[in-house]
Amino acid sequence: MAAKPNPTFDGPFYQPAEKFFLANGKIGLTFDDVTLATLYSEILPRDTQLETALTEQLRLNIPVISSDMDTVTESRMAIAMAINGGLGLIHYNMPERQQLSEVSRVKYHVQGLIQEPIQVSPDQLIGDVLALIEEKKFGFSTFPVVDDKGKLAGLLSSHVVKPRYAAKKISAALTPRSQVHSITKKELGKDPIARADKFFTEHIGIHKLLVVDDDDHLHGLITLSDVERIQQERKAQFKPARDAQFRLVCGAAVSATRNAFGELDRARILAHVGGLVERGVDVVAVSTAHGFSKGVGDMVKVLRDAFPKLPIIAGNVTSAAGVEYLAGCGANAIKVGQGPGSICTTRIVAGVGIPQMTALYVCSRAAAKKKVSILADGGITKSGDIVKAMTLSQAVICGGIFAGCTEAPGEVVEISGKMYKHYRGMGSLAAMKSGSAARYGHEKADATRKLAAEGIEALKESCGSVDRVLAQLIGGIQSGMGYLGAANLAQLREKARYIRVSPAGQREAAPHDVVELKTGN
Ligand code: XMP
Repeated sequence: MAAKPNPTFDGPFYQPAEKFFLANGKIGLTFDDVTLATLYSEILPRDTQLETALTEQLRLNIPVISSDMDTVTESRMAIAMAINGGLGLIHYNMPERQQLSEVSRVKYHVQGLIQEPIQVSPDQLIGDVLALIEEKKFGFSTFPVVDDKGKLAGLLSSHVVKPRYAAKKISAALTPRSQVHSITKKELGKDPIARADKFFTEHIGIHKLLVVDDDDHLHGLITLSDVERIQQERKAQFKPARDAQFRLVCGAAVSATRNAFGELDRARILAHVGGLVERGVDVVAVSTAHGFSKGVGDMVKVLRDAFPKLPIIAGNVTSAAGVEYLAGCGANAIKVGQGPGSICTTRIVAGVGIPQMTALYVCSRAAAKKKVSILADGGITKSGDIVKAMTLSQAVICGGIFAGCTEAPGEVVEISGKMYKHYRGMGSLAAMKSGSAARYGHEKADATRKLAAEGIEALKESCGSVDRVLAQLIGGIQSGMGYLGAANLAQLREKARYIRVSPAGQREAAPHDVVELKTGN
């Protein structure tokens, strides 16, 4: 029989959201100000489910979204997020056409298919290939050989890419086209990996399969090792987030572009979003610093009228009235967060914004009434913050946590022997000059005037792949759910009991009074 919390002794201390936040109504609380009480549990962390629905059509297998920031999400990040079951929002600090191709890259990404394999030509020397491998630090040495008409001429195998053959022409060393295994794009069908898996089983000892079109032009390469890794991953608990056509999900941020008269440039906005929809975008995000404003509301209405079924995220707000306003304009999911971000200075510069847990509580009540979802945007620094945020929201949006990942845009820089990546606020001067000024209510042309930056430029320590970072976060979320006896996120929201933490309690919560040898992760 399930044990119930003891109402007499536990009740006055560990309170459900309604009682807790109303009792603390005079103070703005954020993640570290509160902790969750543990409850009787029959749930093991590994058995918890993390599916979430942002809208009826848009479901994720983990409740984590990468932020639409120019140092966080482009196609590489969005692909990694969707493969892990989440979602990436492609930023808009780039020409509109480029954003369309970034979305296409995600939607047409076939996991395991190297769509633009490095190719060589029959006239090159093996020595040229060796130099290329050295220069680019490639970890492989088998290359498709393509003639000057783009047709497949053969395969250069690793066992001939050796210094002793450096002076030989590729044409003399390649495995000829007639002996190279290939498959057409059509034959690959809807599940290319399953098809390739079958091929490799049927062809003992073959490790590479080339993908061609009907005219024998090269379109990709599938390797046995990738297929085996993916088949392994398919057994994983959290499946990739896909649309009805089995493509990875992808979101894109859109700007409230204005014309010379300061009015919303309807024609341009509709053409751009129309292009995104054509490419299969699953959701657009109208991302601004102040979502409870006429300009943002009008933009959402324009999109809702033109694209009645398109899921729309809008924000940011921190009040129930803001949620009701954007929901009324047609948004399906509302971003909550003004100033909590790790690179944000809105609270310092403008003196506004609400600590995140209080903002989430207030907004979540209006969201439930309006039947829209809430996205906790910013300020997440650890998995425990996500558990707390998920007691009041449908997903979290993270920037800083992913900015140091390999899949984030930008190069790794070395400083005093440590590796870093750049991370900047979209309200930083540099980002606004690259296009995000409208998000903060400025014109891009204002760059010469004094803009009040609301974000900083920073560095994040390089932290490896998104897979690795998400594995840590998901493990933490599942632990939290296990402690609360919550089998899924709906139960987490229902069961959460909160208590405030004193400054001494916050110190107690982190490692203390020891010399730390290794960090937790
Ligand atoms: P984290 O804490 O994950 O926050 O790094 C990412 C979120 O911060 C918001 N954002 C900004 N807020 N000034 C701000 O006040 C900025 O320059 C800025 N840039 C991003 C945004 O909501 C993002 O998802």
